[in-house]
Amino acid sequence: MTDDSRTHVARQRSRLTASVTDLEVVRQRALLVGMVRDTGSVAEGDRSLAELELLTDTAGSDPIEAVLVRRDRPDPATFIGKGKLSELVAESHMLDIDVVVFDNELSPAQQRNLQLAFQCDVVDRVALILDIFAQHAHTHEGRLQVELAQHRYRLPRLRGKGIELSRLGAGIGTRGPGETKLETDRRRILERVSKIERELKDAARSRDTRAKSRKRSGLPVASIVGYTNAGKSTLFNRLTDADVLVEDRLFATLGSTVRRLDLPDGHRALISDTVGFVRRLPHELVEAFRSTLDEAADADLLVHVVDASDPDPDGQIAAVREVLTEIDATGIPEILVFNKIDIAEPAVVGRLLTVFGGSVSASALTGEHIEEVAAAIVQGLDAMTVTVDLLIPYERGDLVASLHDTGEVLDEHHVVAGTEITARLPAAKAEALTAYRRDPTD
Ligand code: GTP
Repeated sequence: MTDDSRTHVARQRSRLTASVTDLEVVRQRALLVGMVRDTGSVAEGDRSLAELELLTDTAGSDPIEAVLVRRDRPDPATFIGKGKLSELVAESHMLDIDVVVFDNELSPAQQRNLQLAFQCDVVDRVALILDIFAQHAHTHEGRLQVELAQHRYRLPRLRGKGIELSRLGAGIGTRGPGETKLETDRRRILERVSKIERELKDAARSRDTRAKSRKRSGLPVASIVGYTNAGKSTLFNRLTDADVLVEDRLFATLGSTVRRLDLPDGHRALISDTVGFVRRLPHELVEAFRSTLDEAADADLLVHVVDASDPDPDGQIAAVREVLTEIDATGIPEILVFNKIDIAEPAVVGRLLTVFGGSVSASALTGEHIEEVAAAIVQGLDAMTVTVDLLIPYERGDLVASLHDTGEVLDEHHVVAGTEITARLPAAKAEALTAYRRDPTD
């Protein structure tokens, strides 16, 4: 076995020097552990650990040290093997570690054994992401979905441990009252799971209604998607003059926001900001967040934001596309926006623009090239809208009003038979108005 690679996390802070906000909630000191196969790429392992570092920080713990273990395959009992385990246990004591975070998914048995050995909380990547989702889910439906995912994650891990329902959602490493209550606890959780599933069905129905009424508005819908921290909210704000929370944290946006977007030449659309995607998004979470991501699945156009200053933008693009496939958002036209050009290497941006044809680059933060993003969106929308000439009888004033609501009326005048209108519409809406089409030469 080769030596492990090890990073002393730069953001290391002692509790004594923690900032005022940190003092209110003492941040746990975390030891991060990743694994690469003997034949695997250390660079890939390091990238994944760097992401785990951000995730840990976002979850509210301080990453103190990150260790990448090389191993042919995970040990079924301890994941990292006995020898490595005792080495890391000693290290965790020395560093006064409160929580050990594994970059991989641990089996319930591995997690239990590791917890006993480390004598502190041991969480895996799934639990960590669940914890972040729990902290950030703001909508009723979002909260229910996180809770459901938490129950499903914890049920097989209940053995030998009770769990207090009241503490669910309180964070990672929740410890329950003890083994005797195990069966009652399991039953209560299963009952809660069925109740949540019923509530979610209702929630999905009202979401459908909302989506339909948006569709009825006649405006095309563009969804901003992208890897977490790529700059989606910043771009959303820049394009719409909105004020969505922008944070140098992962998942600052959970639950999407929809605004009207006024584009050059009188074009209008609805635009939504969606939750950030991560590499290897745990399957349970794809399910859990389908409602948020559905915004993307329903969109007419995807604005895919990529952090061009990231060491691996291609990997980000692949990760996002993978999740899009999982939520059935394939086949929707996509504009790639290489963001953060103010800090990215110009050569890298150049390469990306060449490799990904039709893409644009910009800085959502400084506003540089933002017009190019708007123009690309207009072009994307144009490709899916049609211009039609209509004659609408006076008794259908409601249709005229609805066309005005969409803001796409290009020309309008009144004749004896009704209102003649030239309008730009999404193809589907134009189809619905076929009965009122007229030949422009009439
Ligand atoms: P999540 O919702 O957490 O997935 O993040 P996001 O993709 O919405 O990213 P957000 O807009 O919150 O930005 C993340 C960080 O990147 C913030 O610190 C932004 O200020 C920064 N950022 C966004 N765009 C740019 C840019 O063009 N240049 C630079 N230098 N920083 C940017």
